Amino acid sequence: MTPDRHHATGVYTPSDATLQRFAREVAKYPYDQKQSAVMACLAIVQQEEGHVSLQAEQAVAAYLGMEPIAVHEVTTFYNMYNQRPTGKFKLNVCTNLPCQLRDGQSALHHLEHKLGIAMGETTADGLFTLQQSECLGACADSPVLLVNDRHMCSFMSKDKLDQLVDGLRAAEGQP
Ligand code: FES
Repeated sequence: MTPDRHHATGVYTPSDATLQRFAREVAKYPYDQKQSAVMACLAIVQQEEGHVSLQAEQAVAAYLGMEPIAVHEVTTFYNMYNQRPTGKFKLNVCTNLPCQLRDGQSALHHLEHKLGIAMGETTADGLFTLQQSECLGACADSPVLLVNDRHMCSFMSKDKLDQLVDGLRAAEGQP
């Protein structure tokens, strides 16, 4: 995160480079439909800041000529958008009904126990944030989880969950 863009007044001001990236997304649509770029602009903010603050939502809304509440509805609907800072590895475990019937909930509990945090929390070392998620479209592979919104992990038995966490910790040089 770059604190200079969230100064004391709480105002988020996109950098010139960020505005150029916004403009490239807007250019993909007819001018009167520039609001269609909202998801892409929010993704850019998250890529640069690690999360999308309310102030950043307001800046995106102003840029696209939208009501701030309409942008907020987008960030709260899709759980790939982080509304607060997260750990380096965001683990989203699917707990929708088909997965619940196949150990999705116990996978989440196992991770809570292994990481020593509750769902929604981040470990003190800043490495892991644990969240539950809606259906990831891989119900037959349950338990499933998504790492950092990109990497799908299937058939996550307790052993595989342990291997995943231990492997990520080791990659970061943590015991
Ligand atoms: Fe979990 Fe579909 S319900 S992936």
